Amino acid sequence: MEAQQLREAFIEFFKSKGHAQIGSASLIPENDPTVLFTTAGMHPLVPYLLGEKHPMGRRLCDFQKCIRTGDIDEVGDASHLTFFEMLGNWSLGDYFKKESIGWSFEFLTEHLGFKPEQLAVTAFKGEGEIPRDDETADLWRSHGLKDDQIFFYGREDNWWGPAGVTGPCGPDTEIFYDDGRPKCCDECGPSCHCGKYTEIWNNVFMEYFKDENGRFTPLKQKNVDTGMGLERVCSITEGKETVYDTSLFTGIIGKLEEISGSKYGDDTARDFRIVADHLRAATFILGDGVVPAKVGQGYILRRLIRRASRYMSKLGYDGIFMEQVCDLIVDQYGPNYPELIRAREDIKRNITAEEEKFHKTLSKGLRRFNEMVSENAGKEVLDGEAVFRLYDTFGFPVELTDELAREQGLKVDLDDFDRRFREHQEKSRAGAEQTFKGGLADHSEETTKLHTATHLLNAALRNLIDPDIRQKGSNITADRLRFDFNFDRKLTPEELKSIEDYVNDAIRKDIPVVCREMPVAEAKASGAIGVFDDKYGAIVKVYSIGDISSELCGGPHVTHTGELQGFKIKKEESSAAGVRRIKAVVGKFD
Ligand code: ALA
Repeated sequence: MEAQQLREAFIEFFKSKGHAQIGSASLIPENDPTVLFTTAGMHPLVPYLLGEKHPMGRRLCDFQKCIRTGDIDEVGDASHLTFFEMLGNWSLGDYFKKESIGWSFEFLTEHLGFKPEQLAVTAFKGEGEIPRDDETADLWRSHGLKDDQIFFYGREDNWWGPAGVTGPCGPDTEIFYDDGRPKCCDECGPSCHCGKYTEIWNNVFMEYFKDENGRFTPLKQKNVDTGMGLERVCSITEGKETVYDTSLFTGIIGKLEEISGSKYGDDTARDFRIVADHLRAATFILGDGVVPAKVGQGYILRRLIRRASRYMSKLGYDGIFMEQVCDLIVDQYGPNYPELIRAREDIKRNITAEEEKFHKTLSKGLRRFNEMVSENAGKEVLDGEAVFRLYDTFGFPVELTDELAREQGLKVDLDDFDRRFREHQEKSRAGAEQTFKGGLADHSEETTKLHTATHLLNAALRNLIDPDIRQKGSNITADRLRFDFNFDRKLTPEELKSIEDYVNDAIRKDIPVVCREMPVAEAKASGAIGVFDDKYGAIVKVYSIGDISSELCGGPHVTHTGELQGFKIKKEESSAAGVRRIKAVVGKFD
């Protein structure tokens, strides 16, 4: 069974069990600063796992695009990818273990053709305050699995979540495909890495909430969160050795062979796979409006593009080639992910720009790197100053230098690099550009004012321009605010003027900014806007400015709008397809 049939079979199966299909969410978690990318299907569903009512009901299913960069060094082996698709089904306080296990078993054996004896499953062995999950083992036995197919593990292997620091989580039952070869040793089982077992599905019984102190408390409702890796399952249903040999990659790798003139084979497989994986991930990230940058998601994107460029040159091709591959990826994935089609031209333009930029400095940078290697002859570690210069002058991501160094048997002093990186950022004030902390780099007086100005700007846009406008990103430095929002055309000078007037009017009225803490449900019911996700915990802060604005937010804010003195828009521009960006400042203006 090929990928598209698998997607369809999965969705049809769960629809037949009363599930509604929901769309794949953006790769960029809306307003969640604790993670850079959507890493699992449950990510966009966190508020609903915590008890919010989902408009589509209590049984949901989807395929969700995901990015995980933790294993980037392993990309190119049989199963690791940075981008992948996750098939998932959820019970939001509806069914629990019995149905979840029963349906997984039914789908695998009756629709995908797995034999019961080819499955191995795990259950939670009990640890700390959480009891052993015998119910799960019994359910698997009721479907005919033998005791030697059921493995009990602890929290390390058999617990999933939360996705961020706090949030819903629980014990899981992981389902593995056993390829039938003999065990490699006495301890061999699903957690062994010998290759006998491939994880195909994870059913998480999300009934706990983990708080900031690491404590687990029962959730209001018992949920099921499942995830099946499309590529991995495909490698089994298509009878292929690796994920890269499946129908999902044949077109992309074929195109890379055509461009490079090199053949995919034992010697070149890893290089081809890295280029294919990274370009697939880069296309999707660009498709969600991210552009290459020095920090955040843009930095990961830059790393992927630059790494793909280097591996393509290892395959003997040094020209500009990526946009052709993007075209093919957009054609292949467009029917399931229409946002790619809409963003096609932006994707191609941005990837080519980055590719060209890197090409310009790559050979110079490599020359400098080789000099560094000679200068450091006899040493084991490259000095951080030189590594930093490669980053700063030649745009070498430090991971690239690290990788090149390792190929020469050298190490990079990453701590030293980090120190220099931070020093440099402080000097150039680029430190304030750090988006990792939810857009608020510090809590100085200026950034606090700009934060309140951001809420007023958001309110102005929604009240004057379009009530459907939503925040797509926010970044505040000591000098200005930057606010991204969904809107598909340039704002006129008159509109910009009316927005400025609206905010300045609110400033003149010196309205108190009031913070109230309340349960998520109450915040939502009160009409507060914002993304209701796990980073705030079950009790959230709502900042209100008169009847103009009411937003879920961590703060801090000024106490009265008058403190802002005045508001001025400096720039309005496009940030990505369907996303506009406003930069604005506060202060006294004549
Ligand atoms: N959220 C679970 C996972 O990612 C299903 O494995």
